[in-house]
Amino acid sequence: MDQKKGENEAQGMWDGRFTEATDAFVQEFTASVGFDRALAAFDIAGSIAHATMLEKVGVLTSQELDAIKGGLVSIGRDIERGQFEWSVALEDVHMNVEHVLTQRIGDVGKKLHTGRSRNDQVATDVRLYLRDAVDRIVSQLTRLGNGILDLAEREAGTIMPGFTHLQVAQPVTFGHHLMAWYAMLERDRERLASCRRRINVLPLGAAALAGTSYPIDREYVAELLGFEGIAENSLDAVSDRDFAIEFCACASLAMMHFSRWAEEMILWTGAQFDFINLPDRFCTGSSIMPQKKNPDVPELVRGKSGRVFGHLVSLLTLMKGQPLAYNKDNQEDKEPLFDVARTFHDSAMAFADMIPAIEPKRENMRAAAMQGFATATDLADYLVRKGLPFRDAHEVVGKLVAAAIDQGCGLEALPLETMQARSPLIDVDVFDVLTLEGSVASRNHTGGTAPAQVRAAIERARRRQ
Ligand code: ARG
Repeated sequence: MDQKKGENEAQGMWDGRFTEATDAFVQEFTASVGFDRALAAFDIAGSIAHATMLEKVGVLTSQELDAIKGGLVSIGRDIERGQFEWSVALEDVHMNVEHVLTQRIGDVGKKLHTGRSRNDQVATDVRLYLRDAVDRIVSQLTRLGNGILDLAEREAGTIMPGFTHLQVAQPVTFGHHLMAWYAMLERDRERLASCRRRINVLPLGAAALAGTSYPIDREYVAELLGFEGIAENSLDAVSDRDFAIEFCACASLAMMHFSRWAEEMILWTGAQFDFINLPDRFCTGSSIMPQKKNPDVPELVRGKSGRVFGHLVSLLTLMKGQPLAYNKDNQEDKEPLFDVARTFHDSAMAFADMIPAIEPKRENMRAAAMQGFATATDLADYLVRKGLPFRDAHEVVGKLVAAAIDQGCGLEALPLETMQARSPLIDVDVFDVLTLEGSVASRNHTGGTAPAQVRAAIERARRRQ
């Protein structure tokens, strides 16, 4: 870039008040065009809507509007093709676009900024950017959700151990486990949908902070840009970034869930669990250990959750000391926000591709559920059904588990006499409740792990889609 020319350009925007050029380093330091150019398409859409409204209320003539619109559309096209020359001297995306507009269409370009400030302009751009990001993320989450439902349906009857404290607890079905993931995902999607409503509010018209003396029609601008409402208060409209922080909070919760699933997939692919295989296309090898196949995609998603949480804290901290109304601090909202949007989107996309491709190792899951006396609670419940108070049943089964540990076998392999010596209530029908299939099938209520209930949960989830 031509530094000299750049200086002159920047000075042009406010040289009425200034007696010397901006310091070269200060210019670099205060510029945001290196990153806020990501807002260009939204900046142009916002400017076209603003100009269209100015014409409607009689501030611009229809010829002026046509010239402005034509210039903005051509700039948008050039930016998309990578044929736009960005200037750091012009500080940000807004001044770059406006400056080139005036170069292209002449002095009429200078009328675009009537009744507007970069303060309401940037707040509008960020909201448009985020609304678009939310929509693209939600479509990945929907694809991911459908993939989980299909896998859960295939695995509704697959038995695996359920864990508490990462110790075998009770048998569950893999489909049920997957539907737990789905329940988390559904809340994440609802949170985003609710957040979108608060994002989708128009700041334009607030101008610098107090509104404008032109006879603007904010409702019309909102309608043109697809906003559901207009910001009620001009000071608030240009200053708060709570909608962006809320988005980062939604993203953090979803990434926290993704990270938990990632952790499980990583454990399950290891030789100690060996519950699933991830297709090779989602893994990488090692440069030294020829046998290795590493679950890189889940590991990266787990790792990326950290930067999203970090950005949430950055934005909260950015905001907390700001008096009304706009402060330049707010320029610092963009890099964290853009990174959260990209990281969340890409993680959702990676999981939407990978999770439906999980190959369960059903035999290994079943064998693991046979370990660790997973049906001990079923035996206690059996004794309760025969009239023993639960606390006493708990005691009897505890003794039987100790006997099974002594003999190095499962509960189902204990001789009937050994069991009857502990409780005469035990009969030969006890072996039905000690099977894994009997155990899961008996948890037959809404929210339970019985295969029939898992199928019903999938059915309900599909209807809610
Ligand atoms: N680049 C600025 C930002 O991102 C645009 C608004 C600048 N407004 C101002 N009064 N300096 O927040």
